Parts: sequence; structure tokens; C-alpha cells
Amino acid sequence: MASLTVRGLSEDLKHQLRLRAAGNGRSVEEEIRNILKGAAAGGEGRADLPLQRRSTPTAGRPLPDRDPLDRASATAARVLLVIGGGIAAYKSLDLIRRLQDGNVTVRCILTKAAQEFVTPLAAGALAHGQVFTDLFDPKSEFDIGHIRLARETDLIVVAPATADLMAKMAGGHADDLASAVLLATDKPILIAPAMNPMMWSRRATQRNLARLIDDGVALVGPNAGEMAERGEAGIGRMAEPIEIASAAVSLLNNTAGKGLLAGKRIVVTSGPTHEPIDPVRYIANRSSGKQGHAIAAAAAAAGANVVLVSGPVNIPDPIGVMTVKVESARQMLEAVENAMPADCAVFAAAVADWRVAGASDEKIKKTKSGAPALSLVENPDVLATIAQRKSGRPQLVIGFAAETENLIPNAQDKLKRKACDWVVANDVSPEGGVMGGDINKVHLVTAVGVEAWPPQSKDKVARALVARIAAALAGEAQ
Ligand code: CTP
Repeated sequence: MASLTVRGLSEDLKHQLRLRAAGNGRSVEEEIRNILKGAAAGGEGRADLPLQRRSTPTAGRPLPDRDPLDRASATAARVLLVIGGGIAAYKSLDLIRRLQDGNVTVRCILTKAAQEFVTPLAAGALAHGQVFTDLFDPKSEFDIGHIRLARETDLIVVAPATADLMAKMAGGHADDLASAVLLATDKPILIAPAMNPMMWSRRATQRNLARLIDDGVALVGPNAGEMAERGEAGIGRMAEPIEIASAAVSLLNNTAGKGLLAGKRIVVTSGPTHEPIDPVRYIANRSSGKQGHAIAAAAAAAGANVVLVSGPVNIPDPIGVMTVKVESARQMLEAVENAMPADCAVFAAAVADWRVAGASDEKIKKTKSGAPALSLVENPDVLATIAQRKSGRPQLVIGFAAETENLIPNAQDKLKRKACDWVVANDVSPEGGVMGGDINKVHLVTAVGVEAWPPQSKDKVARALVARIAAALAGEAQ
């Protein structure tokens, strides 16, 4: 067919067409062709209106990672997304979609600096036209107004939260739309900082952060990694859109008391333990804490009140979770007992089986008589202690079995020996790359049988386990 020229369109119609085309990732001409094709087929071109809610993934786009965001509990939740001026702003466009995948409606504010990185047109195409940029724009001020923007939402997410935006928030500034709205709101605020590692570590930024946390602002990230600037690395990368969306949904659920695990208390152990030899040396293992932390995060995202008892790890504390940091097995047991009662306890920590008898208070010096003989004593078994409680036992006690051989028989043996309800068995032989890696292949071992779960990310294992926990606590047959 010849190329297409359409004349006589009003400015408003052209604007709508541009938004619609951008939303569908097409040129305006392709969009018009598509409309005509739909109309010719009798559908009036409405088959793929971009401004509809994105509840059904479109062909060609991979299925969104819908858990834990696709719960009906998030229906009608509203997020006001403030996009700050940093290179990470491009990820905020994906964040709009991630939030929408969670059935959250999104309005956006772009700061002046943000518009150097993403355009209001792009954000508007994704946010169904709900984009605001200017405090003194008569149209948007009379249409909605910054006070209504600040109040007509359930949560404000600031992503990326630049050093400058954080400073303005901490100082109570209100000289542009974003800062005025952030000051005028009575709604919870979640920030996803993103900046150069040096800027992040500066005392001024850390002072502002401390003040914001003290003011009740929630934080997701920043993560460690490569920066956009060549050769720069460290803590300062904005959290990934799925992490920010999960944190937002978790906050929305917690605020609204909704979610699969609303009203339930879950205790999770994670990470290794460190057993001292002397003040500078210890016995440890290779656990990264990724699986346990992911379970705590998934349970919180499902609305549970979560206490995470963690050994020393190098990963951030999960959002919306109370994290208690411990070093040794005995401290872990004490912290878990203090966190009781709970509806469910998940023991994902790799607890050291032994500790050094009579660890030295002073650094052990080398002597001519050779290496010191360490004598080991058995640590308390945290899981077995809780699972075998006569009173106050959680309704559901879940252990992990990290094995390098005879996976299922060893896991079944642990289920009986420790008296837990389920065991999540994983093969931690070095060739599997589970220890420290992001993928896990587990079997769920229960009294009624063994389920082999497919290899999947530790986050997905966590969400699947949380869904099973919710079903079990709700009394559904397992
Ligand atoms: N566990 C615990 N306290 C311990 C040892 C283990 O709570 N002192 C828990 C772990 O968190 C896990 C389960 O028990 O949920 C099994 O841990 P694992 O290390 O696989 O088993 P062990 O009991 O240590 O047995 P073995 O080392 O002989 O395999």
C-alpha cells in the first residue's frame, strides 16, 4: 500500500495519536494503519488500545514476572511516581509498567532534571496521560492541583531519588512540583535512591537519609554494582524496577492490611553463622543469605509481619521486614525465641553445627609448639528446638536441607528427626552453583510426598513457597 497521509486532524487528536502510538511502540503512521485495519475488520480499531490497563500481556512481550504483584488485593491502589533527574530515570518507565502489572494505577511527576533523561510524552504514554511537570502550570494546577496530587494517592514512590531530591525532602523544600507534593502529602513515601557511590557515601547524603528514615520514609536500594559512568562501581545503583514495585506493593498491602499473609507473623532465619575462635577469627560457611532474604521479602510483600533473623551477609535488608542481625548459632536461637510466637517459621539459615569450645578472649598467637588444637562442641539446633516445642509451636515449621548427596532420603530423615512439617531440599554440591548463586532447584518434602520444583530464581522459589505457606495457613489441603 502507498504511504499514508492524513490531513485535517486537530492538535488534540494528533496528541492522542502520538500517545497511543508511543504506548504501542509504533510510529504514528503504523498506528493509524493499525486503527484502519481494525476498523476494516469490523473492530473499529479498538483491538489494542494502548490506554487500557495492561492486565493482559501483549503478544511478543514476555509474560511479566507477575508474582507477587498480581493479587486482587492491590486492586485500585494508586501510586504517585516522582521521577527524579538521573540516568536511572529510564528504568522508571519500566517501573510504571511493573506497577501497572500489579494492578496499581500510576500518576507521574517529572522534575525539570528528569525531563533531561526521559520525556513527559514517554511517561505519559505509559501512565495513560497522567503526567505532571510544573508547579505553576495553570492547566494542571486548576485541573488537579498539587495538594490533590499529594493526597489522591495511596503511596508516593520517588525513583530515582537523586541526592538533590533527598536533600530537598530532608530540608522540607517546596520550590517545584515534586518537592511541594512530597511536603504536602500525608501518604507513605518510598524512595529508590540512585547516585554516584561517592555522592551516596558523603556525610551530607547519609545525614539526609538518616533524617528521611527518621521521618518514616521507606527505602529500597540502592544496590551495589557498575555505574553508568565508565569505571565507576559501588553502592549507588537504583534498585531494579521489579524490586521497587515489590517494595511498593508490600507497603501498599501493609498499609491496607491486605495480602495473602495479612495478619500472619512469619519468622525466617537466613545466612550463615560465624562461630568465634578468638576476637578476630571465626568458623563460617558459604551461605549468601539470598534464599532466606528472598523468602522474608516475599512474605512481607504478601502482607505478613516478618521477622528475619540473619547471620552476617553482604546483601541489603529486605524492605518491610524487621531484620535482627546475629553472629552465632546461640544468638540466632535466642533471637528466634524472642521473635515467637509466630504462625510460621522458615529456617533457611546455614547454621554452623559446631562452635569452638572455650573461644579465646585474646587473639591466639603463633607459638613454636605448633598450631592450636581446636575442640568443637555441638551448637543448639534452632529448627529442632522450635519444631519440638510443647507449647507455642508455630502452626507451620519449615526447614531446609542443604545436601551434597542422597538429597531426598537425607531431607526425609531431617523432616522426621527435627519434627518439622516441610523440608525444602536443595542440592548444594559445588557443580550446581546454588551456594551464592541466584538460581535454586529445590524439592519440597512433606509427610505426604516429594515435589520436584523446576530450576528457578531464588525470588521465584520464595514466592512459590510463600503461596504454599498462605494456602497451608488458610487450611487448604497440601
Ligand atoms: N538448623 C538449625 N540449627 C542448627 C543446624 C541446622 O536451625 N544448629 C536448620 C537449618 O536452618 C535447616 C535445617 O536445620 O533448616 C537443616 O540444616 P542442615 O545444615 O542441612 O542440616 P544439619 O542438621 O546441620 O545436618 P547435617 O549437617 O548432618 O546435614
